[in-house]
Amino acid sequence: MTGAKKYLTFTYGCQMNEHDTEVMAGLLEEAGYRPALGPEEADLILINTCSVREKAENKVFGQLGQLSAWKRRRPGLIIGVAGCMAQRLGETLRRKAPQVDFVVGPGDLHRLPELVRRVEEERQFVLATGWPGGEPVENLPVRRADRIRAYVNISFGCNNFCSFCIVPYLRGPERSRRAEHILAEVEALAREGYREVMLLGQNVNTYGRDLPGGVSFGGLLQQVDAVEGLARIRYTTSHPRDFGPELVEVVASARKVCEHFHLPAQAGSDRVLERMRRGYTREHYLRLTEIIRRRLPHASITTDLIVGFPGETEEDFEATLDLVERVRFDAAFTFMYSPRPGTAAAAFPDQVPPEVRRERLVRLNRLQNRLTRESNERLAGETVEVLVEGPSKTNPERLSGRTRTNKIVVFSGPPELIGQLVNVRITEAQTFNLFGELV
Ligand code: SAM
Ligand code: SF4
Ligand code: F3S
Repeated sequence: MTGAKKYLTFTYGCQMNEHDTEVMAGLLEEAGYRPALGPEEADLILINTCSVREKAENKVFGQLGQLSAWKRRRPGLIIGVAGCMAQRLGETLRRKAPQVDFVVGPGDLHRLPELVRRVEEERQFVLATGWPGGEPVENLPVRRADRIRAYVNISFGCNNFCSFCIVPYLRGPERSRRAEHILAEVEALAREGYREVMLLGQNVNTYGRDLPGGVSFGGLLQQVDAVEGLARIRYTTSHPRDFGPELVEVVASARKVCEHFHLPAQAGSDRVLERMRRGYTREHYLRLTEIIRRRLPHASITTDLIVGFPGETEEDFEATLDLVERVRFDAAFTFMYSPRPGTAAAAFPDQVPPEVRRERLVRLNRLQNRLTRESNERLAGETVEVLVEGPSKTNPERLSGRTRTNKIVVFSGPPELIGQLVNVRITEAQTFNLFGELV
């Protein structure tokens, strides 16, 4: 084999993980690696993992099983595991999957080139799972997967310890990046021709609280809004406890910040919300969504919901259904509760049987799918602004893009439109897609 060594990545989990993979790809390229087109030509395979639900972890073990057979045929192949599972399991991962050559947690991601060099030279297992508590490391190289939309971290970690969630145990306490670093990155992206930035944090609404004299999240959004060249700004995730009317005002008066509010409710019953340690009530949540609807009637509101949290009764679950009906979410990510070892809720004695959890998820999805469809149908006949992202995944002959409210629209047009804002008239609405024609 001639030429550079090649790497291949796989990513599970959230957008932060997607972006971490982009940083690790940048680091590997700095270390002389080039992207492989498939596993056949890879010298290094890196799996960036997620621990948020058991299913996500099982998928990784399945994939590691397949790679073990692959490695028998290619003994020089280096296999690395990064991300939240790496942090959670550390050394145990190696016992469960001896084909793994190195394990790197989110706090040691910037050390990747050094770790890979050690594996190459010493051919020994390398473990780097230091606690992710330090100041954010700046100026790491990034190899972005997309040319139109770019992820930008604004904070790392989380201080909330919702009782169901493993993230704070794996990603460390909340650490904000300094606004000047964020702005410099966004300005560089705009100069490179990116049209959209997605600002990332586990709780964007508490951005800056850990920085002396730092700006608030609303202030940061206003500064990012002023950057020339971008078309759109998105952000995730908001926490209903820390999200307030002032942010709705910022969005309403900003030019580029999209009118889409992703506000994870998790549950609709006060008893469950309290046991989840979410720090808000159902009433508070409903009030926030009313404020959004009143100020920005065309905005979309989406959410995350968990069913079958320990102790959730049929009545509690119906309160979630009722909340969903009242808010009429445009879309929702719905999850069956998955006990995560070491979290408070995993030790609650009143776990809900799996079959009940499953049945509730089916009922919730049935309701939400209807609401999503109705929300899409309300757009039929309307003309909407679409940022063209690329060929449609389902039909590469057509283009696909998103509305400001984050709905996917498929339509016909020349590929030169990719990266541009166009007007599209919606002709057909389905549950997961809108179809339209260029105006
Ligand atoms: N920080 C964000 C927030 O507070 O919404 C996102 C956290 S998590 C990466 C994304 C979603 O996964 C959560 O909003 C929650 O609905 C879901 N989730 C987290 N832990 C879970 C668990 N143990 N079982 C099922 N779903 C879970
Ligand atoms: Fe997890 Fe809660 Fe933090 Fe979100 S806010 S990452 S759900 S602990
Ligand atoms: Fe993200 Fe999964 Fe970790 S959702 S923060 S990759 S546990």
